[in-house]
Amino acid sequence: MNTLKIAIQKSGRLNEDSLRLLRSCGIAVDNGTDQLKVTTPNFPLEIFYLRNSDIPQYLEDGVVDVGIIGKNLLVESGSNVRVVERLGFARCRLSLAIPKSAVGSEVTYFEGRKIATSYPNTTSAYLRSKNVVAEIHEISGSVEIAPNIGLADGICDLVSSGSTLFKNNLKEIETVATSEAVLACAPIITETAKEILDKLLFRIKAVQRAKN
Ligand code: PRP
Ligand code: MG
Repeated sequence: MNTLKIAIQKSGRLNEDSLRLLRSCGIAVDNGTDQLKVTTPNFPLEIFYLRNSDIPQYLEDGVVDVGIIGKNLLVESGSNVRVVERLGFARCRLSLAIPKSAVGSEVTYFEGRKIATSYPNTTSAYLRSKNVVAEIHEISGSVEIAPNIGLADGICDLVSSGSTLFKNNLKEIETVATSEAVLACAPIITETAKEILDKLLFRIKAVQRAKN
């Protein structure tokens, strides 16, 4: 079929803004469908609603042509998927944080200590680059609770408004990486998919120009 297959987050923080972006490009996307795969009537797109963490692999395997995903997740997955456009939403940072009451203001705090994170690869690469040896505990969500329940001495997790850190009595001590939503592309796509992608990119760029 002559379509561009695009993966977007099924639910979660990127879902709404991803749909908003497609709609602002003039693409009619139905609301409230519970289908995991939908086609759009006025643009040759097939939308796949997927779990965030599965998108890098789907791209790498070429199951989908492109995907809207957080840059942080691509980096963490280590995949060789290409970023074709930065989308400017879902801006956040991956940061180290420790209990407010703890004495420390930089990564060396973690020497010989335990750190909880959902981003073990990015975190360990950062620790290595700073010559800090720490024990990493991987957890998949609600990371900020870890220090409070004695699971770790601190965390490495995403910070957006900072309210989750605040509510859990944590303070941010160092930024490991910054992130935003990006449009990523599979290593190989068909010529037809590429032509449709170019059209989509043209529209995305026009929308972004109009915003600035
Ligand atoms: C994300 C992230 C942080 C929080 C940051 O978690 O892991 O915990 O949002 O946002 P804030 O700085 O605006 O508070 P999310 O709520 O998506 O849940 P999860 O970690 O359990 O998946
Ligand atoms: Mg969280």
